[in-house]
Amino acid sequence: MQIVADIPALRAAIGGWRRAGQRIAFVPTMGNLHDGHLSLVEQARRRGDRVVASIFVNPMQFNCADDYGRYPRTFEEDAAQLESMQVDLLFAPAAEAVYPNGMELATRVEVPGVSETLEGEHRPGHFTGVATVVTKLFNLVQPDLAVFGEKDYQQLLLIERMTADLDLPVEIVGAPTAREANGLAMSSRNNYLSAEERQRGGAIYRELCRLIDHLLDGERNFLLLERDAAAALNREGFVSEYIAVRRLADLQTPHVDDAAEDLLVLAAAQLGRARLIDNLQVRRRLADLAAGRAAVHTQAC
Ligand code: PAJ
Repeated sequence: MQIVADIPALRAAIGGWRRAGQRIAFVPTMGNLHDGHLSLVEQARRRGDRVVASIFVNPMQFNCADDYGRYPRTFEEDAAQLESMQVDLLFAPAAEAVYPNGMELATRVEVPGVSETLEGEHRPGHFTGVATVVTKLFNLVQPDLAVFGEKDYQQLLLIERMTADLDLPVEIVGAPTAREANGLAMSSRNNYLSAEERQRGGAIYRELCRLIDHLLDGERNFLLLERDAAAALNREGFVSEYIAVRRLADLQTPHVDDAAEDLLVLAAAQLGRARLIDNLQVRRRLADLAAGRAAVHTQAC
């Protein structure tokens, strides 16, 4: 695996592969890798001739300097894991290479609509940072396809919209959320949790499942369901920011009387020192139930 920090070296390596007609699959990350990240690398491996991963803790997408400063950085371990998964190239630039004129004056990419709700409301500027850095990474790596996790569903939707709007020739692939045995979605921020909090963290998944089960029972008072789920999380020691029932296609509030709409439920909550997010699609929940997979995650669900 080549490890490359500067842009000319990246372009040289990629250029050779492109001239040889190879299909390049890309997995952008901020490092501190876990099995969720590695499942994206597996997808990329299956779909591309060459796999490029990036590790860049992007300062532009952190709306709080403190969060950026303490974000876990474990480069050596990450590189070893990517190497063992047959990644061809790891791009790990310094902030100065990505933002040579500083962040303040950098050209930005805005995606209206999808960036304005949920995470966008709670983390001002976050999605501009994500859209800007992913556009830059796409221009640098020039992949044929890129894999993103459904764990950050709003981010996935934003990237799909941006790629379509800007006519970027990149196929966007979504990958399912990898979870701990108790249902807690894997996340680099789980490192901020104590062992006891990690156990309790499964409550987010449990509440999302419970909420979906009420929807499947025909309950359509979304506000009531959201409030109940938030209160249940708070009773378990979380400070919930939002629990929301939304349309899968655009994250808008669903019509109460349209039972055919594809829905998902999303949550963001603080537990101890960690801000956790998760979501679950009604369709996926049904498929999991049909396959008997729900019991694997948690008996209480
Ligand atoms: P990061 O949080 O490191 O996540 C990198 C990719 O891994 C994202 O596509 C994310 O959705 C996916 N991922 C994280 N946890 C996952 C899980 N439990 N299961 C499946 N996939 C998971 O997301 C970012 O970095 C950044 O915003 C980035 C896109 C790299 C731009 O800076």
